[in-house]
Amino acid sequence: MQNFEYYNRTKIIFGKGTEALTGQETALYATRILLHHSGGSVVRTGYLDKVKKSLSAAGVSWVELDGVKPNPRLSLVHKGVEICKREKLGFILAVGGGSVIDSAKAIAMGALYDGDVWDFFEHKKTVAAALPVATVLTIPAAGSESSVSAVITNEAGPWKRGLNEECIRPVFSILNPEVTFTLPPFQTACGVADMLAHIMERYFTREPHVELTDELCEAAMRVIIRNARRVITGAGEQDYDARAELMWAGSIAHNNFLSTGRIGDWGSHQIEHEMSAVFDIAHGAGLAIVFPAWITYNINEDTPRLARFAAKVWGVDGAFYDYQQAALEGVFRMKNFFTSIGLPVSFKDAGLDGAKIPLMAEQAVKFGPVGNYRKLHAPDIEAIYRLALT
Ligand code: NZQ
Ligand code: ZN
Repeated sequence: MQNFEYYNRTKIIFGKGTEALTGQETALYATRILLHHSGGSVVRTGYLDKVKKSLSAAGVSWVELDGVKPNPRLSLVHKGVEICKREKLGFILAVGGGSVIDSAKAIAMGALYDGDVWDFFEHKKTVAAALPVATVLTIPAAGSESSVSAVITNEAGPWKRGLNEECIRPVFSILNPEVTFTLPPFQTACGVADMLAHIMERYFTREPHVELTDELCEAAMRVIIRNARRVITGAGEQDYDARAELMWAGSIAHNNFLSTGRIGDWGSHQIEHEMSAVFDIAHGAGLAIVFPAWITYNINEDTPRLARFAAKVWGVDGAFYDYQQAALEGVFRMKNFFTSIGLPVSFKDAGLDGAKIPLMAEQAVKFGPVGNYRKLHAPDIEAIYRLALT
């Protein structure tokens, strides 16, 4: 097991009606804030009004910035930075999913920096400080509500780039599973693929003895798969308990507890980010395409671990297969699962054209080879995209 330090400052406030606590929690930090959201689902469902009511009751006023789109754009981040500087705002509340939260995190860094916040995403400058960010989460998926990451799309490329900074980890996050009742099945499924991917990125490690986190990862993945079936393929869209399991699992998947003592891979995320940049595809849908191809490409790399994944997560009975066959059967079952919840598992399924594959592979390695389980260079990544074509 690797040495590690574990620290996660995000206070999680979880459960029914918890959005009513937004005001009192925010007031501990500021009485005038930037309120950031999409202007879409949170308005339609009336959830934003509940949050505003709670803010008002606690004496918190706000300047509002809406318009965040999935795969959040740099241009809106610039606008948010300008507002925070002009209005001298010292706190940002994001109401929404990973896209809104990441946009808020980027604004938080830009508000305390004289140059262009994109410098940080290009690794040209290091982040010195950020405004505090808090979240009211509306979709379990990205895990951004307690992560150190932000992922932004610069329309000029388009380039999609992420960074990790402790100072952007939210100070608190409010998670009410009831708000996820309104999620369309496809969005729920994208979230499920993303949280599974966050665990798989950590699970596929070369670290030989990480028994506790190995088994926690396996258990978390089984719980996600079981409850996803309950919500999406059953009549479970208003099934509070299943929604609650998914919402908590989404945070656990990415709050770094499951990374302790191990070195994760993260190649598939880099490979997917190029897909989101070029096709503007939902991140989770892109991962459902990339991850089975990544495992297939690595079928001869530490095959016992791939076979164990097939056995413990997908119920493949090792007695009937050799390691390699078991691993491939695991991939087959994973693809079936993704398909059954309405996700694409190939470029073809998603209606994507493969013409830009060489360019995407080059972009993915702009800052060097990706992945730790196996270092991938542009030709490897191109081969993975091609495995995912049909
Ligand atoms: O835009 P609106 O109208 O609000 O609708 C959203 C959006 O279309 C909808 N939605 C959200 N909550 C809803 C709802 N619809 C009905 N009812 C609700 N309660 O869902 C759609 C997707 O929202 P989005 O925020 O884009 O989803 P997600 O949370 O999956 O975030 C994706 C972004 O996060 C990044 C991804 O790359 C992508 O840009 N990631 C961020 C990470 C991080 N910061 O730690 C890690 C991840 O690996 C990921 O890369
Ligand atoms: Zn992800």
